[in-house]
Amino acid sequence: MRLDARGVPVSAGRAESLQHYETALQQFQSYVGDPIATLDAALAEDPDFVTGQLMKALVLYTLGERKFLEPVQACLSAASSRSDQASDRERRLMRATEQLLAKDWHGACRTLDRILIDHPRDALALQVGHLMDFYRGDALNLRNRVTRVLPHWDADMPGYSYVLGMHAFGLEEMNQYPQAEIEARRALEIEPRDGWAVHAATHVMEMQGRIEEGMTWLESRQQDWAPDNGFAFHNWWHLALFYMDGGRFDKVLELYDAGVHPEASSMLLSLVDASALLWRLSLEGVDIGRRFEVVADEWAAQLEAEAGYYAFNDFHAALAFAACGRRDDLGSLKQAMRRTSSGDDLLAAMSRDVGLPLVDAAEAFSQARYEQAIDLIEPVRDVANRFGGSHAQRDLLTLTSIEAALRSGDGARARHYLAERRVLKSPESRWGRRLEARAASV
Ligand SMILES: [Fe+2]
Repeated sequence: MRLDARGVPVSAGRAESLQHYETALQQFQSYVGDPIATLDAALAEDPDFVTGQLMKALVLYTLGERKFLEPVQACLSAASSRSDQASDRERRLMRATEQLLAKDWHGACRTLDRILIDHPRDALALQVGHLMDFYRGDALNLRNRVTRVLPHWDADMPGYSYVLGMHAFGLEEMNQYPQAEIEARRALEIEPRDGWAVHAATHVMEMQGRIEEGMTWLESRQQDWAPDNGFAFHNWWHLALFYMDGGRFDKVLELYDAGVHPEASSMLLSLVDASALLWRLSLEGVDIGRRFEVVADEWAAQLEAEAGYYAFNDFHAALAFAACGRRDDLGSLKQAMRRTSSGDDLLAAMSRDVGLPLVDAAEAFSQARYEQAIDLIEPVRDVANRFGGSHAQRDLLTLTSIEAALRSGDGARARHYLAERRVLKSPESRWGRRLEARAASV
């Protein structure tokens, strides 16, 4: 058994595989480079690289798309066929992968935590756990999973900054904004190119309404988080949100075209941000041209493979279909979601309890049935974390409720939600003030 740079056991036939593992880990943590290509090259040379097979399975799984389940299963099978050579840690990684494939995300996250008890410096188990905490909307563990292992890390260990970056994001999602920012800045002192830590501090500024500072924060460090970074589209999205708040819609569209959605994509994580930004622009009545039709086409191309898999993605597909009046696509999506929701697993619950009512709400809103849209969002809004995403992403539900109230002439209801948003998003938010001005005259 070999040990990685943090002392975690890794089964591999060749010493070189360990170096490939370190490279792939760094790529996975930093979003710079392609960990799958690195692992594929290593596995071609070393079929006994069990951790490599498992890492490939887990990295693919965390992309959150159904189309990757088959290669995930293939990697798991390859690793399982060598389970006699595997360590306890690797057998647990196999178990976690099985649980993910069985849609038992809670179980998988517990298994990953069991690994972290024995191997708190297991950067793979930690990162996968963090991402799955995000996908299942578990803010507590976005913070606490990292808190539990932090005493075992220090600045001399490779990848320490990424652990701090994860902790920062968890603290932010638990509304501990000053602590989150301190942690993110510590991470960036060690590794300025940590896009996740940049992102964590960006969330703090977004939530605290530090709009001008947020713009400067992202723009001044653009060379750190944008070039060659697979996560850059999301930090561009955040920058666009700052401009959105300031009412600079021309700039928002420019950022959309250049950074958020510069070209056709089949990556759902990026389509989610495209839909989310265009929906916000539509709420504000901005002329977005044909952009939503283009994104709806891209979602439609994914329908057959992805509809009814992960409710958070489904909802964002529905935003595009509803906004473009594409009833057939919306119908197919809802049919797939209903099939999923009849199951008894976590993804079924996400679809049933959160996804479907919100898809109906988006449809109602787009057809100017505003009161119905509010009625559909209202019971779900407070538990919408169950289908994942961040506070900033789910703010779309509150914004839609406010806009629906304004358009239906219900100023009291709009002011009711605005009072809440004013506390959650800071009175500094100019977007909030714009809406308050409109609500005052309804
Ligand atoms: Fe974000």
